[in-house]
Amino acid sequence: MFASLSPRPADAILGLIAEYKKDPRPQKIDLGIGVYRTADGETPVLNVVKQAERQILESQTSKAYLGTAGEPSFNAAIQSLIFADSVSGERLTTVQTPGGSGSLRVAASLLQQSATVSPVWVSDPTWSNHVPLLGGAGLELPPYPYYDTEKHVIRVDAMLETLRTIPKGETVLFHACCHNPSGLDPADDTWRAITDIVVERELLPFIDMAYQGFSRGLDEDAFAIRHMAERVPEMLVSSSCSKNFGLYRDRVGTLSVMAADAATSATVASQLSFIARTIYSMPPDHGAAIVSTILADDSLTSDWHGELADMRQRLRDMRELISNALHDKAPDHDFSHLVRATGMFCFLGISGEQIATLKNDYGVYLVGSSRVNIAGITPANVDYLAESIAAVL
Ligand SMILES: Cc1ncc(COP(=O)(O)O)c(C=O)c1O
Repeated sequence: MFASLSPRPADAILGLIAEYKKDPRPQKIDLGIGVYRTADGETPVLNVVKQAERQILESQTSKAYLGTAGEPSFNAAIQSLIFADSVSGERLTTVQTPGGSGSLRVAASLLQQSATVSPVWVSDPTWSNHVPLLGGAGLELPPYPYYDTEKHVIRVDAMLETLRTIPKGETVLFHACCHNPSGLDPADDTWRAITDIVVERELLPFIDMAYQGFSRGLDEDAFAIRHMAERVPEMLVSSSCSKNFGLYRDRVGTLSVMAADAATSATVASQLSFIARTIYSMPPDHGAAIVSTILADDSLTSDWHGELADMRQRLRDMRELISNALHDKAPDHDFSHLVRATGMFCFLGISGEQIATLKNDYGVYLVGSSRVNIAGITPANVDYLAESIAAVL
C-alpha cells in the first residue's frame, strides 16, 4: 500500500525555515515565515492570553466535548467583532473552526454542497495556502488581476473590469485587510465600487480576514465586510485569531455565513455541523476559551486592544525604518511601496537571483516571490538588511 506512494515536494516556506535554522551566521535574518515577532525576535504569548489562561485553569470544570459548532459565547463575540451591527443576527451563523485554515476548508465544503458548484475567483496573487485549502477540496480557482509587480500598486481598473465579466452567481474571494502577500488593500472607495459590481452581478463574496486589527484598527479593517453585509443577500467570512491574539498553535478561527433569511440560516447551520463531523468532528477548545474569556471582560478586552495596537505600530515603524534605510543605501531605487502596504507582508520586488544571493552571501532569507515578513525587521538589523539589499540590486 504505502510503497506505491511517491514523496511530495517539501513546502517552500518550511524548507526555508530549516535552512535558516542551520545557518550559523549570527547576522542572519528571517523574513520568510508568517508570524509576528517583537524587536527581540520573539513571537510572545500576549499578556492578556496568559491572564485568561490563569482564569481558565482555575474555573474550568470539564473537558467534555464541545459540539461541532464550538463554544457559543466565542462565536457570538467574534461575530460581533467582525460584523458589529451591520446585519441582523438571525441571518448569521458563526461556527468555531480549527484556525482560519480550518474555516476556509469548511467553507469550501459548504460551497460544494450547493446545487451549482461555482469556481472561487482569487486575487492574483493570493495567499499560497488558498490553493491547497480550496483547490484541494475540489474547487476551481480562476484568478482576477490584483497586484502590479512593476508599479507596486493594486490594478484597480483591471480588477474591476474582470469582476464585471464574472458569470452571475459565482464566488469571489477577497482579503478583508493586510492582503497576503502584497500588503496592499483596496481603499474604502474601491471597496464601494467592488460592492456595486458584486451586487449587480449577484456574486457571492467570500472574505478572508486573517489580520483584523493589524492594518488600521479592528473596526476599520472590517470595513469591506460590514459594507458588503449591508448590501448583499449572502456572504461567507473566514476569520482567524492566530495573529491578532497570537494564538497560532491553538488553532482558533471562525466561519460566518450570512444567509438571506433566518430559515436559510438554520439550514446552513445544519450543513456546517455535518461538514465539521466529516472532517474533524469538533474544533479544539483551549484557544477559543481564551478569546471568549478576554472578550467577556472589559479590562482584558481593553488590554488586548493595547497589545494589538502595539503590534500594529511596530509593523508600521519597521516599514518606515526599512524604507528610510533603503532610501539612504539605494537612492536610485523606489521602495516607497513598503510604507504604502500594511500588516505583516509586502513584496520587496527583487529577482529570484537577487533573492538567492541575499540568502547565500548575506544570510537574509525570504521566499521566492520576494514576499517579506516585516515583523522579521528590528531596529538592530535594519541597517545590515538595507546594506545587503542595496548590495544585490
Ligand atoms: C490570508 C490568510 N488567510 C488565512 C490564514 C490562516 O491562518 P491560520 O490557519 O493560522 O489561522 C492566513 C495565515 O497566514 C492567511 O495569511
